[in-house]
Amino acid sequence: MTSFRLGIAGLGTVAQGVLDIVRENGSVIASRTGVELTIQRVASRTARPDVDLCGATFSTELRDLIDDPQVDVVLELIGGETVARQFIGDALAAGKPVVTANKAVIAAYGNELLTQFPGVGLRFEAAVAGAIPIIQAIRSGLVANRFEHVVGIINGTCNYILTAMQEQGAAFEDALARAQELGYAEADPTFDVDGIDAAHKLAILLGLAFDVPFNFDDIAIEGIRGVTPEDIQYAEELGYRIKHLGIARQTTAGLEARVHPTLVPVQQLIASVNGVLNAVLVKTDAAGDTLFSGPGAGGAATASAVLSDVLATAEAGETPTWRSGEAELKVLPVAETYSAHYLRIPALDEPGVFAQVANALSRYGISIEAAIQKGLQDHASTPPVVAIVILTQVTREADIAAAVAELEDLPQVAGEIARIRVESLA
Ligand code: HSE
Repeated sequence: MTSFRLGIAGLGTVAQGVLDIVRENGSVIASRTGVELTIQRVASRTARPDVDLCGATFSTELRDLIDDPQVDVVLELIGGETVARQFIGDALAAGKPVVTANKAVIAAYGNELLTQFPGVGLRFEAAVAGAIPIIQAIRSGLVANRFEHVVGIINGTCNYILTAMQEQGAAFEDALARAQELGYAEADPTFDVDGIDAAHKLAILLGLAFDVPFNFDDIAIEGIRGVTPEDIQYAEELGYRIKHLGIARQTTAGLEARVHPTLVPVQQLIASVNGVLNAVLVKTDAAGDTLFSGPGAGGAATASAVLSDVLATAEAGETPTWRSGEAELKVLPVAETYSAHYLRIPALDEPGVFAQVANALSRYGISIEAAIQKGLQDHASTPPVVAIVILTQVTREADIAAAVAELEDLPQVAGEIARIRVESLA
């Protein structure tokens, strides 16, 4: 039996999840792996006498975790960026392996940390999709494959809100307020609903699957604030659900990396992943399509992923988990990416308007896949305003953006056009 001693930074829900699992499942873990986990030290700004530290020494100084020679691995579970990044760097510099759940730090500084301290051990399974072992799947289970795409519902808050809008016809603001009441969304929901959290996670998935450096700035980001209950209803009528997806895909021109609301065919399994659950769909040359689904957040679920990294560290010693920069692939500017699109065009209900819309699209080489006209949006105006809903075929982002701008300038178009990408995931 090997003894492996943990130093935990932070005492939030994930840290408490780690303490609970070590207390409850420590003997099972030991009999399975031959590794006996003990909590050597816990450091947090504020003491929590109500939390059982499993016999660990408590301290208010993070540095104590690094300086304690009896700590074999440091768990960074404080979150945030500046202090966490510094702490991870200091620990690695001191030769202590680190396990973190911090997607923001890895997406922005992961390469720097991995390059500067090779071989010490920096693991981050819990940074992406909570309990789902997607990093192990990509870097171990599927390591013999070439990746075609990695597509995921990687923000549970967005998925909860879109599901509530779908199932209850709720408006975005009402669904967000409910998510906040339930503790799924923060008081300031920006990181989640504006797509930033998902972009951090996608930057990591992109790097791992396509051997490029993690670069948050490479990701094109859209959140879900603009999605309306009408869009969800019209999408359903056309055979689609709206999901907030992170998409990392290899094309002949380069890599696409974007997070945005997306129409997904209802028959795709990922379209049925609802509520706060996450799911990641991976397509590779040899394994084909694999789908991973599970809780993307929560103390115990995230702690499960943290402890898998702790055990990997105990078992693998100093083996690094990842190398970057082996591929020549470049991430494409979003204007050069390709998708089909859903358009909801508020238009005056008078003769010839649909023809004008179709003409404008055809000038940009955009083909219409399906079209429906929906009832009156604005009863009061004369002539009345209707919604023309169009699904386009796959088109270049720059072309659809220009076509939509031109359509919005038509006198017959009565407001902003809703534009949501459509992905068949075929
Ligand atoms: N806030 C995230 C989510 C969980 O809603 O999925 C942590 O990344």
